[in-house]
Amino acid sequence: LRKVTTHRLFEMKERNEKITMLTAYDYTMAKIVDQAGIDVILVGDSASNVIAGNITTLPMTLDEMIYHGRSVMKAVERALVVVDMPFGSYQGNSTLALASAIRIMKETGADCLKLEGGEEILDSVKRILSAGIPIIGHLGLTPQSINKFGTYTVRAREEQEAKRLISDAHLLEEVGCSAIVLEKIPAQLAGQVASELKIPIIGIGAGNQVDGQVLVIHDMLGMTNGFSPRFLRRYANLHDVIFEAAQHYSKDVKSGDFPNEKEQY
Ligand code: KIV
Ligand code: NA
Repeated sequence: LRKVTTHRLFEMKERNEKITMLTAYDYTMAKIVDQAGIDVILVGDSASNVIAGNITTLPMTLDEMIYHGRSVMKAVERALVVVDMPFGSYQGNSTLALASAIRIMKETGADCLKLEGGEEILDSVKRILSAGIPIIGHLGLTPQSINKFGTYTVRAREEQEAKRLISDAHLLEEVGCSAIVLEKIPAQLAGQVASELKIPIIGIGAGNQVDGQVLVIHDMLGMTNGFSPRFLRRYANLHDVIFEAAQHYSKDVKSGDFPNEKEQY
């Protein structure tokens, strides 16, 4: 059971082997996902939405990310574990960024961090990398900037934003990032970035011409049925499974059927 490393992701790209990535935020889920052979587990700040019930990812704190990261790390034996740096913990201040990064690494034992943005956060990226901490970049639709974008629609459809994204991707590779997540951009643009860069490009809503895919686990398990972007494929309908199990349990308790003779002491 060889632990996945950032170097291994690089080798997978060279071998044309697709990289699989899913989010997890807790011990039980991380254990299942790791045992299923998923290459990378992302402790995403999407925990803000699917765990904490916030509308955006912005409220997530460093302490909350560390709590989730530590829970996931206790379960994982094989996958590379990546923790998202939360909004406010790295932007515009590379000293703060390094301190935040070191806290996550020390207190969770995670393998790698993910930061949203390109040129505008390059000082923070370089400073964290200089401490020997691997980084995965994140470009395109970066949810921590939702208040700037004003919409969760596809990014970089226009030439100016596409050019900026390509140049940001090159910058992140040049300073030493291990991989880049591209979220919700045209497939052709994502494919171009993947072919120009040596580091792996992992897409979400970025088409098939990239080196790997990532989805939020609650979405792909069909627990979040109100959220249906085009890029989402549902691999289960856990919403209905859980709903029906809860109703069935309720019926059994109310009728006196549960617990029965064999289910008591
Ligand atoms: O927080 C998250 O789940 C993410 C993925 C969507 C890439 O950043
Ligand atoms: Na995220």
